[in-house]
Amino acid sequence: MKFVFLSLFPEFIEQAGDFSILGRGRKAGLFELSVINPRDYTTDRHRSADDTPCGGGAGMVLKPEPFSLAIDEARKTAPEGVVIALTPGGRPLTQNIVKELAAGKKDLIFVCGHYEGFDQRILDKTDLQLSVGDYVVTGGELPALIIMDAVARYIPGVLGKEASTEEESFSDYLLEYPQYTRPVDYQGAKVPEVLLSGNHAAIKKWRRKEAIRATYKLRPDLLSKLKFDEEDGKLFLEVLNEEKTTQSE
Ligand SMILES: C[S@@+](CC[C@H](N)C(=O)[O-])C[C@H]1O[C@@H](n2cnc3c(N)ncnc32)[C@H](O)[C@@H]1O
Repeated sequence: MKFVFLSLFPEFIEQAGDFSILGRGRKAGLFELSVINPRDYTTDRHRSADDTPCGGGAGMVLKPEPFSLAIDEARKTAPEGVVIALTPGGRPLTQNIVKELAAGKKDLIFVCGHYEGFDQRILDKTDLQLSVGDYVVTGGELPALIIMDAVARYIPGVLGKEASTEEESFSDYLLEYPQYTRPVDYQGAKVPEVLLSGNHAAIKKWRRKEAIRATYKLRPDLLSKLKFDEEDGKLFLEVLNEEKTTQSE
């Protein structure tokens, strides 16, 4: 899989792609990362990639020509690639979208904005717009890197253990259960005994219940999307009763 970034700040992307798990995956050839700088497709003396907004207003808007030519170039290196513009107003990124992008196994071309954003004609050349949340950052580089990171985790071999993506937060609209490691007692805060019991069935049940509790406490909005079976229903009632008791204490 190839990730192609269109960015006026290529060093930002190059450096971020070299660390830790992603850096190892890239070096191992599990995916490719490249950057195209739209500024290389400017024709004026000052190599301007932005201009003032038509109709007036503050800030600078990204010019259609350099970005359009850069998209054409990216499509040459990744002809089947999905061209994704990063915009605050795009489809909000979710784990399901990440999974869809990963399952599609198509190369991803990220078009990173800056300043006041894109001339509409650039957006019209893209396949979709994605947002990383209802807030505004200065450029599309960080949002694009977030998406690459989330998708790359599904490429076989990138994470040491394939199972790592299976029981994570959002995998089935549940947050992850609390995790512990040694020491068993840290300044009086102890690892729950069940996790030390070696009883795999009890551990599984505890984890499911604590995942339901974490979701109930931190992201109750997700609960309505959950498909509870009878056992989950029982665990949920237990959680509700326990939480009510804790609140009234
Ligand atoms: C300062 S923002 C432009 C915001 C634009 N004027 C608006 O109101 O929608 C500059 C660039 O950062 C990127 N960006 C900012 N916030 C983002 C978000 N939440 N998700 C994805 N990209 C974002 C986009 O590429 C955008 O073109």
